[in-house]
Amino acid sequence: MANYNPYDNMLSVLESAAQKLGLERKDYEALKYPERELKVSIPVKMDNGELQVFEGYRVQHSSSRGPCKGGIRYHPHVDIDEVKALAAWMTFKCAVVNIPYGGAKGAVKVDPAKLSKGELERMTRRFTTAIMPIIGPEKDIPAPDVNTNAEIMGWIMDTYSMLHGYAIPGVVTGKSVDIGGSLGRPEATGRGVSIVTREALKHFKTEGKVRIAVQGMGNVGSISAKLLHEMGHNIVAVSDVSGGYYNPDGLDIPAIIKYSADHKLSLEGYTAPGVKKITNAELLACECDVLIPCALQNQITAENAGAVKAKLVVEGANGPVTVEADEILAKRGIPSIPDILANAGGVVVSYFEWVQNIQELTWEEDQINATLEKIMVRSFKDVEAIVNEKSVSFRIAAYMVAISKLVRAKKIRGVFP
Ligand SMILES: NC(=O)c1ccc[n+]([C@@H]2O[C@H](COP(=O)([O-])OP(=O)(O)OC[C@H]3O[C@@H](n4cnc5c(N)ncnc54)[C@H](O)[C@@H]3O)[C@@H](O)[C@H]2O)c1
Repeated sequence: MANYNPYDNMLSVLESAAQKLGLERKDYEALKYPERELKVSIPVKMDNGELQVFEGYRVQHSSSRGPCKGGIRYHPHVDIDEVKALAAWMTFKCAVVNIPYGGAKGAVKVDPAKLSKGELERMTRRFTTAIMPIIGPEKDIPAPDVNTNAEIMGWIMDTYSMLHGYAIPGVVTGKSVDIGGSLGRPEATGRGVSIVTREALKHFKTEGKVRIAVQGMGNVGSISAKLLHEMGHNIVAVSDVSGGYYNPDGLDIPAIIKYSADHKLSLEGYTAPGVKKITNAELLACECDVLIPCALQNQITAENAGAVKAKLVVEGANGPVTVEADEILAKRGIPSIPDILANAGGVVVSYFEWVQNIQELTWEEDQINATLEKIMVRSFKDVEAIVNEKSVSFRIAAYMVAISKLVRAKKIRGVFP
């Protein structure tokens, strides 16, 4: 599915949900278009003295409900349609969990594994200056995404602050706590995924221990696997770019996370008694009850959806199931809990971080986790109520919740001028 356009995926779901809501076209037409798309070139002095120019993007999809919010991704295959889709999903996600943000996303077309630390820092700082006119605590607040982390957020915060002449921690979230980051932020997305999985299992009246497969053992996948393992579930398979690791009796998740931390965040070479090395394709089709894709978009497609054996899919990643795959899964009676609900825990705690920054306060971790739990459960129940009332999928219901709020906001604000 190399040519699959995730923005078309977003438009197709938006259209279905708007029709279910009985909206007139003029009510939601603007949601089909990002408010602003910025493409920048990023010249970087490489360690060997050569100059290399990278391409970067920042897309702001909507600011109807508040400042734009969304991560920054470093990936060699990223393109503008992917960033546009990711920005729109942020708009819907913030609306589902009812936090006062719009949606944005940024990216640089680069394989960061091929850069030295110095090159990565110079590229990040130059990218920050290139998108500086449109970001800021009141305008658009970046955060980590695939291949970016707290250290990179620190460089963005420092660059922005240096060019303004004073410390402005609220320009990014997902920073280190030493410079205004929030306790609980690194775990927040995975924590949200685990809460939503627990609620979904209750909805489908599944009791006791279940078998779970997690694709991707980065930030989201590793924390989701850890917390679901701690809830007593059997994590039977995990994977990363090095491939999959399967044990029908359950994997030792703390040992796997430690192995990855000790091996530059890679599971390459991991072995243990009872563990079979599988491919990522085999992981998606392995015997399990819940499949949680936490890597990239377009992983479950029309080609492999027929092979999925899980009884439930929970989208830890953004856009891991294509529209065609979603239809195949639905026909096979396999529900998906959509990304805009399942992985919203990260942006919820990013919002807490930003609130702490602009109020110059710090919150305790138990307060953060308890408030996250409350918001995730309430959001799940809001979506579940529509599923029950309208007999629609969780995906369509989540979009219906989000679009209703966005359309209301747009109506109240009116069209300028
Ligand atoms: N980090 C967050 O707070 C956050 C919040 C919401 C959504 N997300 C989404 O979750 C997904 C993962 O983000 P992350 O922050 O955990 O990224 P990450 O860079 O920390 O981890 C990505 C993981 O996926 C693995 N991976 C990449 N390609 C793969 C493939 N083809 N098969 C198997 N594994 C593969 C990588 O090896 C790595 O383990 C993305 O879709 C991201 O947009 C992240």
